[in-house]
Amino acid sequence: MGSELVTVYEVGLRDGLQNEKGFIPTEQKRELLDALVGAGLCRLELTSFVSPKWVPQLADAEAFARLVLPAAGYSVASPSGPATDGVSLSALVPNGMGLERALACGLPEIAVFLSASETHTQKNINKSIDRALGVIEELIPPALAAGVRVRGYVSTVWGCPYEGTVDPARAIAVAARLAELGCYQISLGDTIGVGNPRQTREIVRRALDVMPLESIALHLHDTRGTALANILAALDLGVRVFDSSIGGMGGCPYAPGAAGNVATEDLVYMLAGIGLETGIDLEKLIEAANVAERLVGHPLPGKVHRAGAFRPRVA
Ligand code: HMG
Ligand code: MG
Repeated sequence: MGSELVTVYEVGLRDGLQNEKGFIPTEQKRELLDALVGAGLCRLELTSFVSPKWVPQLADAEAFARLVLPAAGYSVASPSGPATDGVSLSALVPNGMGLERALACGLPEIAVFLSASETHTQKNINKSIDRALGVIEELIPPALAAGVRVRGYVSTVWGCPYEGTVDPARAIAVAARLAELGCYQISLGDTIGVGNPRQTREIVRRALDVMPLESIALHLHDTRGTALANILAALDLGVRVFDSSIGGMGGCPYAPGAAGNVATEDLVYMLAGIGLETGIDLEKLIEAANVAERLVGHPLPGKVHRAGAFRPRVA
Protein backbone atom coordinates (compact mmCIF):
# COMPACT_ATOMS: atom_id res chain seq x y z
CA MET A 1 0.00 0.00 0.00
CA GLY A 2 2.98 2.37 -0.32
CA SER A 3 3.57 4.79 2.56
CA GLU A 4 2.22 3.43 5.87
CA LEU A 5 1.33 6.76 7.49
CA VAL A 6 -2.25 8.00 7.23
CA THR A 7 -3.42 11.49 8.26
CA VAL A 8 -6.73 11.59 10.06
CA TYR A 9 -8.27 15.05 9.80
CA GLU A 10 -10.74 15.56 12.66
CA VAL A 11 -13.81 17.62 11.74
CA GLY A 12 -16.12 16.81 14.65
CA LEU A 13 -15.89 20.20 16.35
CA ARG A 14 -17.03 21.86 13.12
CA ASP A 15 -18.92 19.39 10.92
CA GLY A 16 -20.19 17.50 13.95
CA LEU A 17 -21.35 20.37 16.13
CA GLN A 18 -22.82 22.46 13.27
CA ASN A 19 -25.58 19.90 13.03
CA GLU A 20 -26.44 19.59 16.71
CA LYS A 21 -29.77 21.08 17.76
CA GLY A 22 -28.36 22.79 20.82
CA PHE A 23 -25.44 25.18 21.27
CA ILE A 24 -22.48 23.58 23.06
CA PRO A 25 -20.82 26.17 25.33
CA THR A 26 -17.31 27.26 24.35
CA GLU A 27 -15.66 25.78 27.47
CA GLN A 28 -17.19 22.39 26.65
CA LYS A 29 -15.93 22.59 23.07
CA ARG A 30 -12.51 23.14 24.56
CA GLU A 31 -12.90 20.04 26.74
CA LEU A 32 -13.58 18.00 23.59
CA LEU A 33 -10.65 19.58 21.72
CA ASP A 34 -8.33 18.71 24.62
CA ALA A 35 -9.55 15.10 24.60
CA LEU A 36 -9.00 14.83 20.82
CA VAL A 37 -5.53 16.36 20.93
CA GLY A 38 -4.74 14.18 23.95
CA ALA A 39 -5.56 11.11 21.83
CA GLY A 40 -2.96 12.19 19.26
CA LEU A 41 -5.04 14.00 16.63
CA CYS A 42 -2.98 16.87 15.29
CA ARG A 43 -5.00 18.17 12.36
CA LEU A 44 -8.38 19.46 13.46
CA GLU A 45 -11.09 21.78 12.21
CA LEU A 46 -12.10 23.99 15.08
CA THR A 47 -15.07 26.01 13.88
CA SER A 48 -16.50 28.08 11.01
CA PHE A 49 -16.30 31.81 10.34
CA VAL A 50 -19.63 31.72 8.51
CA SER A 51 -22.74 33.75 9.25
CA PRO A 52 -23.96 33.04 12.80
CA LYS A 53 -27.48 33.43 11.44
CA TRP A 54 -26.90 30.47 9.13
CA VAL A 55 -24.98 28.30 11.62
CA PRO A 56 -25.75 29.50 15.19
CA GLN A 57 -24.07 26.43 16.73
CA LEU A 58 -20.69 27.96 15.78
CA ALA A 59 -21.49 31.56 16.68
CA ASP A 60 -18.68 31.48 19.27
CA ALA A 61 -15.99 31.02 16.57
CA GLU A 62 -13.82 33.94 17.76
CA ALA A 63 -14.23 33.13 21.44
CA PHE A 64 -13.31 29.48 20.88
CA ALA A 65 -10.33 30.22 18.61
CA ARG A 66 -8.98 32.84 21.02
CA LEU A 67 -9.46 30.51 23.96
CA VAL A 68 -7.43 27.65 22.49
CA LEU A 69 -4.95 29.07 19.99
CA PRO A 70 -2.36 30.36 22.44
CA ALA A 71 -2.37 26.98 24.19
CA ALA A 72 -2.41 24.76 21.14
CA GLY A 73 1.26 24.96 20.23
CA TYR A 74 0.24 24.72 16.59
CA SER A 75 2.78 24.52 13.83
CA VAL A 76 3.44 27.51 11.61
CA ALA A 77 4.67 25.46 8.65
CA SER A 78 5.04 26.64 5.08
CA PRO A 79 1.78 28.08 3.72
CA SER A 80 2.14 25.89 0.61
CA GLY A 81 2.17 22.60 2.46
CA PRO A 82 0.61 20.72 5.33
CA ALA A 83 1.76 21.16 8.89
CA THR A 84 4.68 18.88 9.61
CA ASP A 85 4.57 18.85 13.39
CA GLY A 86 2.55 20.22 16.28
CA VAL A 87 -1.18 20.66 16.30
CA SER A 88 -2.69 22.54 13.37
CA LEU A 89 -6.14 24.06 13.74
CA SER A 90 -8.31 25.19 10.87
CA ALA A 91 -11.73 26.75 10.27
CA LEU A 92 -14.19 27.15 7.40
CA VAL A 93 -14.15 30.53 5.68
CA PRO A 94 -16.87 31.37 3.11
CA ASN A 95 -15.88 34.92 2.08
CA GLY A 96 -13.72 37.97 2.77
CA MET A 97 -15.50 38.71 6.04
CA GLY A 98 -14.79 35.16 7.19
CA LEU A 99 -11.13 35.54 6.25
CA GLU A 100 -10.81 38.77 8.24
CA ARG A 101 -12.29 37.04 11.27
CA ALA A 102 -9.96 34.04 10.92
CA LEU A 103 -6.87 36.22 10.46
CA ALA A 104 -7.77 38.31 13.49
CA CYS A 105 -7.71 35.11 15.57
CA GLY A 106 -4.34 33.98 14.19
CA LEU A 107 -5.44 30.67 12.68
CA PRO A 108 -2.63 28.92 10.78
CA GLU A 109 -5.01 27.30 8.28
CA ILE A 110 -8.42 27.96 6.74
CA ALA A 111 -10.70 25.92 4.49
CA VAL A 112 -12.71 27.31 1.57
CA PHE A 113 -15.70 25.37 0.32
CA LEU A 114 -18.25 24.95 -2.42
CA SER A 115 -20.09 22.08 -4.08
CA ALA A 116 -19.84 20.27 -7.38
CA SER A 117 -23.59 20.81 -7.93
CA GLU A 118 -25.22 24.21 -8.49
CA THR A 119 -28.24 23.69 -6.24
CA HIS A 120 -26.23 22.61 -3.19
CA THR A 121 -23.76 25.49 -3.66
CA GLN A 122 -26.70 27.89 -3.87
CA LYS A 123 -28.50 26.48 -0.80
CA ASN A 124 -25.30 26.24 1.25
CA ILE A 125 -23.56 29.53 0.49
CA ASN A 126 -26.16 31.48 -1.47
CA LYS A 127 -24.23 31.77 -4.72
CA SER A 128 -23.51 29.96 -7.98
CA ILE A 129 -20.40 27.80 -8.45
CA ASP A 130 -18.84 30.48 -10.69
CA ARG A 131 -19.51 33.22 -8.16
CA ALA A 132 -18.20 31.05 -5.31
CA LEU A 133 -15.00 30.36 -7.26
CA GLY A 134 -14.67 34.10 -7.85
CA VAL A 135 -14.96 34.79 -4.10
CA ILE A 136 -12.41 32.05 -3.35
CA GLU A 137 -10.04 33.44 -5.99
CA GLU A 138 -10.12 36.78 -4.20
CA LEU A 139 -9.58 35.46 -0.69
CA ILE A 140 -6.75 32.97 -1.25
CA PRO A 141 -3.96 35.49 -2.11
CA PRO A 142 -4.41 37.55 1.09
CA ALA A 143 -4.60 34.34 3.14
CA LEU A 144 -1.35 33.00 1.66
CA ALA A 145 0.28 36.43 2.01
CA ALA A 146 -0.57 36.28 5.72
CA GLY A 147 1.16 32.89 6.00
CA VAL A 148 -2.09 30.93 6.27
CA ARG A 149 -2.45 27.56 4.50
CA VAL A 150 -5.64 27.09 2.50
CA ARG A 151 -7.45 23.78 2.23
CA GLY A 152 -10.41 23.35 -0.14
CA TYR A 153 -13.61 21.32 -0.01
CA VAL A 154 -15.74 20.15 -2.89
CA SER A 155 -19.09 18.88 -1.61
CA THR A 156 -21.62 16.60 -3.34
CA VAL A 157 -18.93 14.85 -5.43
CA TRP A 158 -20.65 11.45 -5.06
CA GLY A 159 -24.19 12.82 -5.32
CA CYS A 160 -26.36 15.87 -4.56
CA PRO A 161 -29.51 15.84 -2.41
CA TYR A 162 -31.20 18.15 -4.93
CA GLU A 163 -29.75 17.10 -8.31
CA GLY A 164 -28.99 13.40 -7.82
CA THR A 165 -25.95 11.93 -9.56
CA VAL A 166 -23.12 14.38 -10.19
CA ASP A 167 -20.86 14.06 -13.23
CA PRO A 168 -17.43 13.13 -11.76
CA ALA A 169 -15.66 15.06 -14.54
CA ARG A 170 -17.50 18.20 -13.45
CA ALA A 171 -16.72 17.59 -9.77
CA ILE A 172 -13.03 17.02 -10.43
CA ALA A 173 -12.89 20.15 -12.60
CA VAL A 174 -14.03 22.16 -9.56
CA ALA A 175 -11.38 20.43 -7.40
CA ALA A 176 -8.68 21.12 -10.00
CA ARG A 177 -9.66 24.79 -10.02
CA LEU A 178 -9.28 24.98 -6.22
CA ALA A 179 -5.81 23.43 -6.53
CA GLU A 180 -4.93 25.92 -9.26
CA LEU A 181 -6.08 28.80 -7.05
CA GLY A 182 -3.65 27.74 -4.30
CA CYS A 183 -5.35 25.17 -2.05
CA TYR A 184 -2.60 22.80 -0.84
CA GLN A 185 -5.14 20.01 -0.39
CA ILE A 186 -8.63 19.34 -1.70
CA SER A 187 -11.05 17.31 0.35
CA LEU A 188 -13.58 15.57 -1.88
CA GLY A 189 -16.90 15.28 -0.08
CA ASP A 190 -19.55 12.60 -0.13
CA THR A 191 -21.83 15.05 1.63
CA ILE A 192 -24.87 12.78 1.81
CA GLY A 193 -23.06 9.42 2.02
CA VAL A 194 -24.30 7.81 -1.18
CA GLY A 195 -20.98 6.58 -2.56
CA ASN A 196 -19.81 3.07 -3.35
CA PRO A 197 -16.26 1.77 -3.92
CA ARG A 198 -16.62 1.53 -7.70
CA GLN A 199 -17.57 5.22 -7.86
CA THR A 200 -14.78 6.08 -5.40
CA ARG A 201 -12.16 4.43 -7.62
CA GLU A 202 -13.40 6.40 -10.61
CA ILE A 203 -13.42 9.70 -8.70
CA VAL A 204 -9.95 9.18 -7.23
CA ARG A 205 -8.50 8.08 -10.60
CA ARG A 206 -9.92 11.18 -12.26
CA ALA A 207 -8.52 13.36 -9.47
CA LEU A 208 -5.09 11.72 -9.88
CA ASP A 209 -5.13 12.72 -13.56
CA VAL A 210 -5.19 16.42 -12.63
CA MET A 211 -3.62 16.80 -9.18
CA PRO A 212 -0.86 15.24 -7.10
CA LEU A 213 -1.74 12.35 -4.80
CA GLU A 214 -0.63 14.32 -1.70
CA SER A 215 -3.23 17.00 -2.41
CA ILE A 216 -6.18 14.59 -2.35
CA ALA A 217 -8.23 13.98 0.81
CA LEU A 218 -11.62 12.30 1.20
CA HIS A 219 -14.46 13.55 3.40
CA LEU A 220 -17.05 10.80 3.60
CA HIS A 221 -20.33 11.06 5.46
CA ASP A 222 -21.48 7.60 6.50
CA THR A 223 -25.19 7.97 5.86
CA ARG A 224 -25.54 4.56 4.20
CA GLY A 225 -22.69 2.74 5.93
CA THR A 226 -20.33 2.75 2.93
CA ALA A 227 -17.66 5.20 4.14
CA LEU A 228 -15.10 2.62 5.31
CA ALA A 229 -15.52 0.58 2.12
CA ASN A 230 -14.90 3.74 0.11
CA ILE A 231 -11.85 4.57 2.22
CA LEU A 232 -10.40 1.11 1.55
CA ALA A 233 -10.88 1.64 -2.20
CA ALA A 234 -9.10 4.99 -1.97
CA LEU A 235 -6.27 3.54 0.18
CA ASP A 236 -5.60 1.04 -2.60
CA LEU A 237 -5.08 3.96 -4.96
CA GLY A 238 -2.66 5.61 -2.52
CA VAL A 239 -4.85 8.25 -0.82
CA ARG A 240 -3.51 8.88 2.68
CA VAL A 241 -5.66 11.72 4.11
CA PHE A 242 -9.18 11.12 5.43
CA ASP A 243 -11.55 13.44 7.28
CA SER A 244 -13.57 11.96 10.12
CA SER A 245 -15.67 13.04 13.05
CA ILE A 246 -15.40 11.81 16.62
CA GLY A 247 -18.28 9.50 17.44
CA GLY A 248 -19.58 9.94 13.87
CA MET A 249 -21.18 13.27 14.86
CA GLY A 250 -22.63 15.61 12.33
CA GLY A 251 -24.10 16.27 8.92
CA CYS A 252 -24.63 19.32 6.77
CA PRO A 253 -27.44 21.72 7.72
CA TYR A 254 -28.02 22.35 4.00
CA ALA A 255 -28.07 18.67 2.95
CA PRO A 256 -31.30 17.08 4.20
CA GLY A 257 -30.79 13.60 5.60
CA ALA A 258 -26.99 13.82 5.74
CA ALA A 259 -25.54 11.83 8.65
CA GLY A 260 -22.16 12.39 10.28
CA ASN A 261 -18.76 11.72 8.83
CA VAL A 262 -17.20 8.33 9.27
CA ALA A 263 -16.46 8.01 13.01
CA THR A 264 -12.83 8.78 13.85
CA GLU A 265 -12.57 5.82 16.22
CA ASP A 266 -13.98 3.42 13.60
CA LEU A 267 -11.53 4.71 11.00
CA VAL A 268 -8.52 4.51 13.33
CA TYR A 269 -9.54 1.00 14.44
CA MET A 270 -9.66 -0.22 10.84
CA LEU A 271 -6.42 1.51 9.81
CA ALA A 272 -4.53 0.04 12.79
CA GLY A 273 -5.89 -3.41 11.98
CA ILE A 274 -4.54 -3.30 8.43
CA GLY A 275 -1.16 -1.98 9.56
CA LEU A 276 -1.49 1.71 8.72
CA GLU A 277 -0.11 4.08 11.36
CA THR A 278 -1.99 7.22 12.40
CA GLY A 279 -0.16 8.23 15.59
CA ILE A 280 -3.50 8.10 17.43
CA ASP A 281 -4.15 6.22 20.68
CA LEU A 282 -7.40 4.26 20.19
CA GLU A 283 -8.21 3.94 23.91
CA LYS A 284 -7.91 7.71 24.38
CA LEU A 285 -9.92 8.26 21.22
CA ILE A 286 -12.73 6.15 22.67
CA GLU A 287 -12.60 8.35 25.78
CA ALA A 288 -12.87 11.41 23.51
CA ALA A 289 -15.93 9.88 21.82
CA ASN A 290 -17.45 9.39 25.26
CA VAL A 291 -16.79 13.06 26.04
CA ALA A 292 -18.48 14.04 22.75
CA GLU A 293 -21.49 11.88 23.56
CA ARG A 294 -21.80 13.42 27.02
CA LEU A 295 -21.58 16.98 25.64
CA VAL A 296 -24.19 16.51 22.91
CA GLY A 297 -26.42 14.58 25.29
CA HIS A 298 -27.45 11.75 22.97
CA PRO A 299 -25.92 8.54 21.59
CA LEU A 300 -23.52 8.97 18.68
CA PRO A 301 -23.47 6.52 15.78
CA GLY A 302 -19.77 5.47 15.89
CA LYS A 303 -19.39 1.76 16.64
CA VAL A 304 -15.96 1.30 18.20
CA HIS A 305 -16.52 3.67 21.12
CA ARG A 306 -19.45 1.49 22.12
CA ALA A 307 -17.89 -1.91 21.38
CA GLY A 308 -14.41 -1.09 22.69
CA ALA A 309 -11.00 -1.75 21.19
CA PHE A 310 -10.50 -5.45 20.52
CA ARG A 311 -7.07 -6.75 21.42
CA PRO A 312 -6.44 -10.20 19.99
CA ARG A 313 -4.92 -12.53 22.61
CA VAL A 314 -1.43 -13.66 21.62
CA ALA A 315 -0.83 -17.30 22.63
P1 HMG B 1 -25.46 35.73 2.42
O1 HMG B 1 -26.69 35.98 3.19
O2 HMG B 1 -25.56 35.53 0.95
O3 HMG B 1 -24.34 36.84 2.73
O4 HMG B 1 -24.72 34.48 3.06
P2 HMG B 1 -24.31 38.38 2.57
O5 HMG B 1 -22.92 38.73 2.13
O6 HMG B 1 -25.47 38.87 1.75
O7 HMG B 1 -24.51 38.86 4.10
C1 HMG B 1 -25.72 38.66 4.80
C2 HMG B 1 -25.47 38.81 6.29
O8 HMG B 1 -24.53 37.83 6.73
C3 HMG B 1 -24.88 40.16 6.65
O9 HMG B 1 -25.33 40.46 7.98
C4 HMG B 1 -23.39 39.87 6.72
O10 HMG B 1 -22.72 40.75 7.58
C5 HMG B 1 -23.38 38.47 7.31
P3 HMG B 1 -26.61 41.39 8.24
O11 HMG B 1 -26.28 42.68 7.51
O12 HMG B 1 -27.79 40.67 7.65
O13 HMG B 1 -26.67 41.48 9.75
N1 HMG B 1 -22.18 37.71 6.93
C6 HMG B 1 -21.32 37.20 7.81
N2 HMG B 1 -21.28 37.21 9.15
C7 HMG B 1 -20.24 36.61 9.74
N3 HMG B 1 -19.26 35.95 9.08
C8 HMG B 1 -19.27 35.91 7.73
C9 HMG B 1 -20.34 36.56 7.06
N4 HMG B 1 -20.63 36.72 5.75
C10 HMG B 1 -21.77 37.42 5.69
N5 HMG B 1 -18.28 35.27 7.09
C11 HMG B 1 -22.82 33.12 3.56
C12 HMG B 1 -23.52 33.97 2.52
C13 HMG B 1 -21.76 32.33 2.86
C14 HMG B 1 -22.20 34.02 4.61
C15 HMG B 1 -23.87 32.20 4.21
O14 HMG B 1 -24.51 31.51 3.19
C16 HMG B 1 -23.30 31.24 5.19
O15 HMG B 1 -22.76 31.61 6.23
N6 HMG B 1 -23.39 29.93 4.90
C17 HMG B 1 -22.88 28.93 5.82
C18 HMG B 1 -22.94 27.64 5.20
C19 HMG B 1 -22.33 26.59 6.09
O16 HMG B 1 -21.60 26.85 7.04
N7 HMG B 1 -22.67 25.32 5.75
C20 HMG B 1 -22.16 24.20 6.45
C21 HMG B 1 -20.70 23.99 6.19
S1 HMG B 1 -20.32 23.27 4.60
C22 HMG B 1 -20.40 21.58 4.89
O17 HMG B 1 -20.80 21.16 5.94
C23 HMG B 1 -19.86 20.65 3.84
C24 HMG B 1 -18.46 20.10 4.18
O18 HMG B 1 -18.46 19.45 5.43
C25 HMG B 1 -18.02 19.12 3.09
C26 HMG B 1 -19.01 17.99 2.79
O19 HMG B 1 -19.54 17.38 3.71
O20 HMG B 1 -19.21 17.74 1.60
C27 HMG B 1 -17.42 21.23 4.24
MG1 MG C 1 -19.14 17.46 5.79
